[in-house]
Amino acid sequence: MGEISIANRGKRGLIIAIDGPAGVGKSTVARLLALRLGYLYLDTGALYRAIAWKVHNAGIRPEDHLAVAALLPHTSLQMACGPEQSHVLLNGHDITGQLRTPEVTALASVVSAIPAVREWLLPVQRDIGAEGCIIAEGRDIGTRVFPEADIKFFLEADAEVRATRRHRELVAAGHAVHFDQTKRDLTGRDDRDRSRPVAPLIPAPDAERIDTSSMPVEEVVSHMMAAVAARS
Ligand code: DC
Repeated sequence: MGEISIANRGKRGLIIAIDGPAGVGKSTVARLLALRLGYLYLDTGALYRAIAWKVHNAGIRPEDHLAVAALLPHTSLQMACGPEQSHVLLNGHDITGQLRTPEVTALASVVSAIPAVREWLLPVQRDIGAEGCIIAEGRDIGTRVFPEADIKFFLEADAEVRATRRHRELVAAGHAVHFDQTKRDLTGRDDRDRSRPVAPLIPAPDAERIDTSSMPVEEVVSHMMAAVAARS
């Protein structure tokens, strides 16, 4: 895999946090913002998905927290972050293409509630963001990973709208799933992400909340660009 060049990497730049539930448009706007600013896009969900993938392939039940934790010292995770896609290397192998199946999606939500997994992934994420010039997207970026982020956004949208977006993505990727199932899965994961004791999905007190239910992507990005310009 070639090195991906990020125009502004190396200069001290902003850390921008984007949090919110699934299907709210975080990845789309984070990618666009990263492209416009020449920043790096950090998809932290991909890291949780990689751990879930490993748990699945090791044949471990996610309820067995001790067995999941025992995998971590034998795990190395690297991210080759580009402005558009982040490639995830697990113990040197690029597993990016295997991280968005419905099975890994469901398992990632369960595995991400395990405190040992969250602790283990903290320095991984912080190392990637150490130089700044980063758009980090996830659930606890503004509250836990980068509480000192320069700008924080928390995206929200109606569950019906989010499920419709997610269903469209799954169908486009060739997964034959019913809308009702997609909506049930999505709201189930949201409930788990919001109610877990460690780093639950909640807006940071200093995050700007944006409801994307009826806001076109371009409008969300322009709004964010204006916030960045005001800080630069
Ligand atoms: O954003 P995503 O759907 O790829 O995330 C997959 C799962 O990982 C999701 O259920 C919540 C979890 N996650 C998390 O707990 N904290 C993050 N910073 C990012 C993702």
